[in-house]
Amino acid sequence: MSSQSMPSSISAQDLDSILREDRIFPPPPEFSSTAHIKSLAEYESLYNRSIADPESFWAEAARNLHWFQPWTKTLDWNLPWAKWFVNGKLNLCSNCVDRHALGDNAEKTAIIWEAEPIGEDGQPEIRTLTYAQLHREVQRFANALKSLGIQKGDRVAIYMGMTPELAIALLACARIGAVHNVIFGGFAAHAIADRVNDSQCVAILTQDSSYRRGSEVPLKRTVDEALANTPSVKHVVVLKRSGTPVNMQPGRDWWWHDLVASSRPICPAEPMDSEDPLYILYTSGTTGKPKGLVHTTGGYSVGTYLTTRYCFDLDNPNHPNDVFWCTADIGWVTGHSYVVYGPLQNGATVLMYEGAPNYPGCDRFWDIIDRHKVTIFYTAPTAIRAFIKWGNEHVEKHSLASLRLLGTVGEPINPEAWMWYREKIGHNRCPIVDTWWQTETGGIMIAPIPGAVPTKPGSATRPFFGIQPEVVTPEGKPVPKGSGGLLVIRKPWPSMARTVWGDPERYQKTYWSDVPGSYFTGDGARQDADGYYWLMGRVDDVLNVSGHRLGTMEVESALVAHPKVAEAAVVGRPDDLKGQAVVAFVTLEGHVAASYAKAESSSAADHGSATPASSADSAAPANSLESLKDELKKWVAKEIGPIARPDDIRFTDALPKTRSGKIMRRLLRELATHGEIKGDTTTLEDFQVIAKLRESDEG
Ligand code: PRX
Repeated sequence: MSSQSMPSSISAQDLDSILREDRIFPPPPEFSSTAHIKSLAEYESLYNRSIADPESFWAEAARNLHWFQPWTKTLDWNLPWAKWFVNGKLNLCSNCVDRHALGDNAEKTAIIWEAEPIGEDGQPEIRTLTYAQLHREVQRFANALKSLGIQKGDRVAIYMGMTPELAIALLACARIGAVHNVIFGGFAAHAIADRVNDSQCVAILTQDSSYRRGSEVPLKRTVDEALANTPSVKHVVVLKRSGTPVNMQPGRDWWWHDLVASSRPICPAEPMDSEDPLYILYTSGTTGKPKGLVHTTGGYSVGTYLTTRYCFDLDNPNHPNDVFWCTADIGWVTGHSYVVYGPLQNGATVLMYEGAPNYPGCDRFWDIIDRHKVTIFYTAPTAIRAFIKWGNEHVEKHSLASLRLLGTVGEPINPEAWMWYREKIGHNRCPIVDTWWQTETGGIMIAPIPGAVPTKPGSATRPFFGIQPEVVTPEGKPVPKGSGGLLVIRKPWPSMARTVWGDPERYQKTYWSDVPGSYFTGDGARQDADGYYWLMGRVDDVLNVSGHRLGTMEVESALVAHPKVAEAAVVGRPDDLKGQAVVAFVTLEGHVAASYAKAESSSAADHGSATPASSADSAAPANSLESLKDELKKWVAKEIGPIARPDDIRFTDALPKTRSGKIMRRLLRELATHGEIKGDTTTLEDFQVIAKLRESDEG
């Protein structure tokens, strides 16, 4: 269990406004009247039924999918090991694609894709794929993978930008039973190699480069760097996106278009066992090494199918022209579940956009919504806060009249951002579903069913069907309503991660041992008198930076790998835009620190001019500590990826520790948040006084 019990990602101001929040918005009657679930009574009756007999509830949901062979037992539960739909055989790709392509929806648009760059005609490139076309493309690429010898059970890494081929890559892997391991395109070579090696991937699918905010991101070049240390990789498939020349190693590297050109468009879907792994997705935890969470086929399919259907009101015959846009990158779990698998299982039209929300202007998203008549829009609070900052004029230029439902995910949303979203984007007409879930949960766990559950700004409201969350003490005792505690889930659910790849013990220890008998989420929460859940942020050493999970230990490991760094402690500081900013307290190697101290003092004597390093002291800096800060920030971005780049680096001559040697993070968090450190922070900070607190063994 983490040493702290106070949530860390909410500022005191936000906490105060959340605790005083009493606004409540019933679902708009126009929405409810055509929704799948039309009233609170209907939600409650179905919820109560789902909790009284979860197995029957989930079995009924599962019957909407196609199974090659039915299951013989709905749940086999041996805490913490779950098997759902035991002995069932199905294929998720076939449920996403074939079911629609071979049924009534062959000509329905499955994917609308918009490129980031604006062409000479002033328009971005747009591609659409019907379900029939997607069916063909997926089969061709599945055969391409097979032609490289990739088989059921093999792990395949995917490091691509947001292109239709990325969705095709996931679906093709699922079709042949290869286990995909998508690595977010912002991760650096080291992070790729770690993930590829941990799961022993036999191939990497990538592209020459992707586009982001007007620049090219050289994906293949980064893969080439990673490949120097990934002996398990036999093949690299490269999608030509930009046409920028890349290194292609004969016998290992293949162009996507060449492979597909020689592949047949028929590739039957492999009947997969319910518990066959579908994918591995790495996520940050409280140790330096990211965990490869394993999701399996049957339960994940059913969970993402049903949550998408009810939380986003998709596959609703009253709304045949719905266009669903989840802005997440497929590199994160939100993209897996709600760009690809959930909506496609529901036969939806999915919008995919390649690039940044502020390219070429700050109204790109609103322009996309109007042009493509997006009806359901799902994004992250950090994006909403950026839109607010950019100014209402960008929003007000657009009608947004097609929207009927809005969603948020990834971090707590502050009530003011929620209200802005409701008024400026939803025009007070669209319900907002604030969806709480995690990489580990596979699908949405707590969220309002939009036609049924009244919403309160900042609350994820009530649990999804079949889900029993509880707020408890570290001993597992329920806390009274209104009090804060740890959020746990009492019963297994189909889309839960089954294990950590190659390390089942870590799975058990991380999730199932802190609060006996329950799944521990790592989040703090409070339940109000109406039974609504208010998520209060992580209670462990995991940060949430712009909706992305980042382990403090991960950043610390990267920092101490730098030759000048002796020790590092990383904490979060509340940030208006990013939710949390990354602050690193760093102690330098003794001789390095001494030389910097000397350089600083002589440069001060020189009225600020940098003192050149003496040739006798190789560790001495060429210039100030300020440039060392930059060097360390760049180093972390290079080691992990730009999302981990520290916002602040503070040098200190010692880290405050308890007598047992544990870093006193709470103290550092306070320092980082309230900026109690006086004077010029570029100089070495004196922690002597704080270090004395060691005596009290606080922690
Ligand atoms: O702290 C919670 C926060 O994001 C964490 C999960 O991160 P990840 O596995 O990367 O998945 C993000 C997308 C599902 C949670 O432990 N979180 C996610 N959604 C919310 C949230 N916090 C508050 N409200 C949410 N709606």
